[in-house]
Amino acid sequence: MQSPIERESWATRVGFILAASGSAVGLGNIWRFPYMTGEHGGAAFLIIYLVAIILIGYPVMVNEIIVGRKTNRNPIGAFKALAPNTPWWLVGALGVFTGFVILSYYSVVAGWSLAYVYKVVIATTTADVEHADVFVGHITSVWEPIFWHAVFMALTVGIIAGGVVRGIQKWVTVLMPAIIILLVILIIRAVTLPGAGEGLSYYLRPDFGEVTSRTFLAAIAQAFFTLSLGMGAIITYGSYLRGRHEIPGNAASVVGIDTGIAILAGFAIFPAIFALGFSPAAGPGLVFITLPAVFAEMPLGTLFGIMFFVLLSFAALTSAISLLEVVTAWLIDEKGWTRKQSAIVMGIIIFTVGLPATLGYSVLSGVTFPGLGTDLLDTYDWFANSIFLPLGGLLTAIFVGYIWGTKNAIEEGNRNARFIKLGNWWGFLIRYVVPVLIGVIMIMGIYDTFSG
Ligand code: PHE
Repeated sequence: MQSPIERESWATRVGFILAASGSAVGLGNIWRFPYMTGEHGGAAFLIIYLVAIILIGYPVMVNEIIVGRKTNRNPIGAFKALAPNTPWWLVGALGVFTGFVILSYYSVVAGWSLAYVYKVVIATTTADVEHADVFVGHITSVWEPIFWHAVFMALTVGIIAGGVVRGIQKWVTVLMPAIIILLVILIIRAVTLPGAGEGLSYYLRPDFGEVTSRTFLAAIAQAFFTLSLGMGAIITYGSYLRGRHEIPGNAASVVGIDTGIAILAGFAIFPAIFALGFSPAAGPGLVFITLPAVFAEMPLGTLFGIMFFVLLSFAALTSAISLLEVVTAWLIDEKGWTRKQSAIVMGIIIFTVGLPATLGYSVLSGVTFPGLGTDLLDTYDWFANSIFLPLGGLLTAIFVGYIWGTKNAIEEGNRNARFIKLGNWWGFLIRYVVPVLIGVIMIMGIYDTFSG
């Protein structure tokens, strides 16, 4: 086992913020947030999601960073260090497993994004193209999506094999600002399309009539997924922090950046959906269909389109590496593997686990999950995000709240904290609000899902 002293740590003050926001900002903001909002009624979902970010997302983010920094360990090792000889390490194991499942299909969608770097050229330069057909044509072909899934996984493995600082930190510094600039340009085009107003009111004017317990479950699932919580990615990144770095303020920056980018993505997409006559409930294909249609309506649209999908792929990459890093850190810390070995072996296994998700639109297209009625990719997504992530976050909150103790956690969290200080309010959120909300929402949402 490596001692915490030899362990790598972030090279600069902002290193952690950049890496953690790199992990948080990804397909979750730009691909998943809009279609979830579109499937769950627009503004009403947006509001519930924002409440979930504040009441659950932020306190859980702080919680996971504390556990990571305190122990300087991977998620399994962290629980072992705080509660030796108890079964609590299983919560860490659940996280490692969840990371595995998420990355396996995350890479499939990221592969679509890579393919769209050139598909968008066809979509924006062909007259009278049906944008939905371009997308469906892509995902229903067998080899092309598999090829890009493999390319994306190889890139992820390459960066993780390179190490924490030289691999991860370097990339995120450049990419985050570029994404924001491009989104703002897209928003300007989208809101000035004739007919954009209807999309804006869908996105901003809540109608709570459609809200069910499934809406709440979807909102907490989205909160966990988009903030990379509930599976140990943030514990792992927190484990590369030294004591002199602030926790509560850094967590607020990461949550703020991530939420800001998701909201911006909604402004780029909803006005366009309504202006161009698409349905907001189009599911996972939504951004791949809508945005190229917007690009086609813009001067220099092809160029912007290429840039957009390059950046989306990079944003996905900075998230994917945090998923692979969890498994890798565990194998290095606990099993004595080398970084290269674990990145490569796990990369291959995860790629293989992802194959059914990509084939779910071609060879395995008849296969749906009983009760859920979802295709394979959506099934991976549903179990990972509606069950495993909230469960991981819930158990970690219970662990800190009742076993390790919020007093210890607050002491660690306030070490060198300057901008925000943790106090009883945080302990209250972790001990009561987080477990009760997640527990109730999960039970009701799951029951509602399977009872029809
Ligand atoms: N937060 C990432 C995104 O929004 C996905 C992710 C989930 C990354 C869990 C790491 C852990 O795309």
